[in-house]
Amino acid sequence: MRIAVLAEQEANENRVAATPETVKKFAGLGAEMVVQRGAGAGSGVRDADYEAAGAKLADGAAVLEGADIVLGVRRPANLPGLKAEALVVSIMDPYGNEAALEGLAKAGASAFAMELMPRITRAQVMDVLSSQANLAGYRAVVDGAAEYGRAIPMMMTAAGTVPAAKVFIMGVGVAGLQAIATARRLGAIVTATDVRPATKEQVESLGAKFLAVEDEEFKQAQTAGGYAKEMSKEYQAKQAELTASHIAKQDIVITTALIPGRPAPKLISADMVRSMRPGSVIVDLAVERGGNCELARAGEVVVVDGVKIVGHLNVAGRLAATASALYAKNLFAFVETLIDKKDKKLAVNWDDELVKATLLTKGGAIVHPNFQRKAP
Ligand code: NAI
Repeated sequence: MRIAVLAEQEANENRVAATPETVKKFAGLGAEMVVQRGAGAGSGVRDADYEAAGAKLADGAAVLEGADIVLGVRRPANLPGLKAEALVVSIMDPYGNEAALEGLAKAGASAFAMELMPRITRAQVMDVLSSQANLAGYRAVVDGAAEYGRAIPMMMTAAGTVPAAKVFIMGVGVAGLQAIATARRLGAIVTATDVRPATKEQVESLGAKFLAVEDEEFKQAQTAGGYAKEMSKEYQAKQAELTASHIAKQDIVITTALIPGRPAPKLISADMVRSMRPGSVIVDLAVERGGNCELARAGEVVVVDGVKIVGHLNVAGRLAATASALYAKNLFAFVETLIDKKDKKLAVNWDDELVKATLLTKGGAIVHPNFQRKAP
């Protein structure tokens, strides 16, 4: 059983799908590990570190030769010479990318999307959305603090007292909770908002103050899956009214609000940006899904009337070494379930709920119900 680890092709992608630690673990399951030369460069892992962990190195597409399993961070654009029925496991970004999925199917891959892993107890250790969002939430605060021209904690010095910065977190899922905890550790005065009632207690337990329009719609805003619904126009107007005066007084605003399968909700208008004092910072983590701030630009830091709006892409990738370590462990935990440990062979249980939820292509076709093209 041979497992290939790809070097990522996309610019700005510094993460890698395996670390020396997971290479050793896979080898322990009887796998022959092959790492594409340079794969770990962006995450501080040398080729020699992989070799020391027991992997062979391969140049370019040679990494795919004879591979039974291919591991990547992002969906690979092409897989020349892929063995038929090889398993390809990565973050696949399948929505709206059906043509690319067909390409994977034609290449003969059984492709698995890690981000479709069900959020059930057994799969927590495989949850890449959580492992990466947690780091993004942390990094958003660090990026915000770095762009902010003042100190975050209150400091009493001989030369005078420096007030603590006010940080407002909008959207309190995995990223937002870590952002609250990080901003608190830096000494900020932290407030947070969300539309799901369950978040109120979570915010308060982290020592931050909760702010939200708590009407009847708010009480119903969480779906059975634990996600937010898209709120009505009326709710959005009330929310904007409540948050506008609050945002005007903030030093740093971190936005993380997302709705599954929908564009990110717009929470900060151009007027709200202009109401902030010069030197304030907005960090928009939702920028890849259209942004929570009307003026955020994907991949850019824009300045509007002295207010910086940070729109970095792939924020977890800005902590590539840590993000890779956690992602690689998520991958190992899943791939381990596809291997027969006694026979040291691939043994996929196609009826397993984790396999069914993540499998996109198999036998030359797209098999995931959400991505099959509708018959004409
Ligand atoms: P997400 O990334 O989809 O959204 C981020 C946050 O934005 C959410 O808290 C959402 O309520 C909020 N939001 C959406 N619209 C908003 C609006 N208009 N205004 C303000 N906030 C808005 O969420 P994430 O981080 O993926 O978490 C979703 C849920 O999954 C949570 O309930 C979390 O506790 C749960 N979860 C469960 C896990 C498990 O059981 N294994 C693992 C991780 C998360």
